[in-house]
Amino acid sequence: MLQVLFYKLFLAVAFGYVRIGLIFLAACVTWRAFTIYRIHRNRPRNIYITSKSYSIGKWVKNFDFITNAPTHILRTSRKLGYSSSFAIPSLVEHQVLVAGQQDVEALCNSSEGVLSFHEAMTDRMKHYYTMYGFEHNNIDPHDNVPIRAVKVLLRMHIPVLRPLIRRKIREGFETAVANGHRVKNWSSVSIFQLSKMVIEESNAQVILGDELGNNPECVRAAIRYSTDAVITAEICRQLPPMFTPIIATTLMRWSGAMDKVANFIRPVVEERMRTPSKESSNATSYNDCIQWTIDSSHTPAQRATPRLVAQIIGILLASSHQMSMVLVYIIYALCDHPEYIEPLRKEIVEAVNKNSKDPLKEMHLLDSFLTETSRLYPPDALTVQRKVKKPFTLPSGAVIPTGNLIAVPVLAQARNPEVFPNPETFDGRRFLLKDGQTKDKDAVSRFTDVRYSFSFWGAPRKGCPGRWYVSETLKQAMVHLLANYDFELEDEHASRFMYWTTAIFPRPARRILLKERGIVC
Ligand code: HEM
Ligand SMILES: *[C@@H]1O[C@H](CO)[C@@H](O)[C@H](O)[C@H]1NC(C)=O
Ligand SMILES: *[C@@H]1O[C@H](CO)[C@@H](O)[C@H](O)[C@H]1NC(C)=O
Ligand SMILES: *[C@@H]1O[C@H](CO)[C@@H](O)[C@H](O)[C@H]1NC(C)=O
Repeated sequence: MLQVLFYKLFLAVAFGYVRIGLIFLAACVTWRAFTIYRIHRNRPRNIYITSKSYSIGKWVKNFDFITNAPTHILRTSRKLGYSSSFAIPSLVEHQVLVAGQQDVEALCNSSEGVLSFHEAMTDRMKHYYTMYGFEHNNIDPHDNVPIRAVKVLLRMHIPVLRPLIRRKIREGFETAVANGHRVKNWSSVSIFQLSKMVIEESNAQVILGDELGNNPECVRAAIRYSTDAVITAEICRQLPPMFTPIIATTLMRWSGAMDKVANFIRPVVEERMRTPSKESSNATSYNDCIQWTIDSSHTPAQRATPRLVAQIIGILLASSHQMSMVLVYIIYALCDHPEYIEPLRKEIVEAVNKNSKDPLKEMHLLDSFLTETSRLYPPDALTVQRKVKKPFTLPSGAVIPTGNLIAVPVLAQARNPEVFPNPETFDGRRFLLKDGQTKDKDAVSRFTDVRYSFSFWGAPRKGCPGRWYVSETLKQAMVHLLANYDFELEDEHASRFMYWTTAIFPRPARRILLKERGIVC
């Protein structure tokens, strides 16, 4: 009797799940059909569009966009000679990808009210769920708080942070190498793991400060949090928006890393808000983004604890995600072009002798090598992503209705032979001054420069505020690797990248073999 009852109960529950599953599926299908109709209705005019947005094949194409967008974008750009803008139907809108100086400048110069950076980022990252309730709103409409904290205060403190960053990078390498598999005399390590370890150690110190940055539990949670946020945002983009609240919340709670990080940050913020600010007393000054965010927040709404915590978590995410990917691509490039290793090592030794306080400043080959790597291997096929808020007409004549996305296809832009001769060739010396050139009249650039012709850092007027810190950290990581290790790829022929919409991720399975060098500088 009881068994029958249990059996019935089981069936009821099972059918309940099946029914919920079917409702979910039906909602997804209906939403997709409606979305495809909307994409078509809202298509840009007067511009080359790569495929029809409404065919049955679009369902398949859509899947193709998820797994292969950078290849399509590159192919189409090449076909159009890298100088015409075009549109590509994507998940929920058309993406208008601009090329040619006039169109790129018009996009970069546009204002937030017409082409919105915030809305593009909110669509992509689902901030509210992945950044601890953070919202772009009129508490800080122009992002003055994070921009001042990162672009002014963090940049200003780089000399003070330098020895700390160096120590964290060394510790990151040591931990990763110690945990690697032994292969003969080498240690075999996942390049992505190594890179994440090194970058997150440094970021935890710089963003969260001495106390939290040296707390292994907090650092581990911070590493896990950035992975959670990226995966959650990407999954939610594939689903109807009405499911975002429940799915994003569930996914972010799964590991609990975000709440854990927030619970570490909150008491520190509260404590610092209680102690008087630097100007009014001789209290200890803290060199970290927690303090700089507090010091950059002026209105009561900006200084509310939940807002400060979310803001700091936002900076943590902005800083960790792309930097660790770029470090992987630098390591790939060093392994693929070993002919640069000795010249780079020589430059390191000379630079340390010439300017022991800031040797990176003297390392021009290193800067050029890094810039060239960023040219060929950006972490995303798009930058300067903006959501169209008011119908927008490009100088080339294309008319783009509200709701679409507009961006620079940076991966393709960097292969324009008119800007970069022999664009497919990796030339680590490309950005060095050639004989007879002088810096002021010949446009040779440094890694941190912003340009219209290469949008790695975004729009020149709005470029990434973290770029000087990125440059310092990536260069120190390169110097540490070159000076202290011999290294090679474990399997140089295996595939290295994986695409997810327009993001270009390193494959976590790719490994590097490392061995400490006898001489250390
Ligand atoms: C390799 C690493 C990085 C790359 C490639 C990168 C790239 C970018 C790009 C393309 C933008 C958008 C600009 C635009 O659309 O016009 C941006 C914005 C931003 N980045 Fe970075 N970034 C990196 C690392 C960092 C780091 C380490 C930090 C913080 C310490 C940071 C903080 C920010 C912030 C706060 C913004 C928003 C700026 C605003 O609201 O105007 N980024 N970054
Ligand atoms: C964009 O702004 C720059 C600098 O203010 C200016 O030189 C350029 O002409 C502008 N371009 C367009 C297309 O508006
Ligand atoms: C590897 O280590 C062994 C001893 O541990 C040593 O005899 C050998 O020379 C090393 N090989 C290389 C290539 O360094
Ligand atoms: C500030 O410095 C003065 C003397 O220089 C000292 O008497 C005072 O206790 C200090 N205040 C704090 C908050 O450390």
